[in-house]
Amino acid sequence: MPATRIAYVPSADAIELLVIDHDKIRKLFDDFNRSHAAGLKHEAERIARQVCAELTIHATLEQEIFYPEARAELDDTDLVKQAKVEHAMEQQLIGQIAAGFIDDDKYAAKVRVLRENIERHMREEEDRMFPNMQQSGLEMQEIGARILARKLDLIAELGAGADNRRMGKRRRRSEFGNYASRRAA
Ligand SMILES: [Fe+2]
Repeated sequence: MPATRIAYVPSADAIELLVIDHDKIRKLFDDFNRSHAAGLKHEAERIARQVCAELTIHATLEQEIFYPEARAELDDTDLVKQAKVEHAMEQQLIGQIAAGFIDDDKYAAKVRVLRENIERHMREEEDRMFPNMQQSGLEMQEIGARILARKLDLIAELGAGADNRRMGKRRRRSEFGNYASRRAA
């Protein structure tokens, strides 16, 4: 069935949208820790998959839409190159977690390492790249509209968005695991 398209995309500032994603990702990592510490294994595994899905969608939006704008606009293109390398490394861990199970040896360790890497990456964006972009004079509402539209496409394409609960767990897992592996390649 074709993905549902919407004709109108509400305006939103690109950087605000990306920071909202960051905060959601941070909260999900906290939720994972709580569930894991409480011995709620299946809940912890579900949350870890949700983190992987959110991160993959977020990284795709940055790489397809935001980073090309940043690269064209900022003098410090090393910032963008570094962010892309970090994404590629993160995707390898995401692929392993998305294809894994909570009882796997090192599963929780992988989630912890992913969190540390992602936190560093998000801080770098929030402290350096985003403020520089805010001063660039680029039209953040227009970039934000493209980010929102692409996000809806990705959620439909992956069936892995946090709010998509229609698919069975197995299908969601395999489709998302394949996508995460492709992005890590
Ligand atoms: Fe980001």
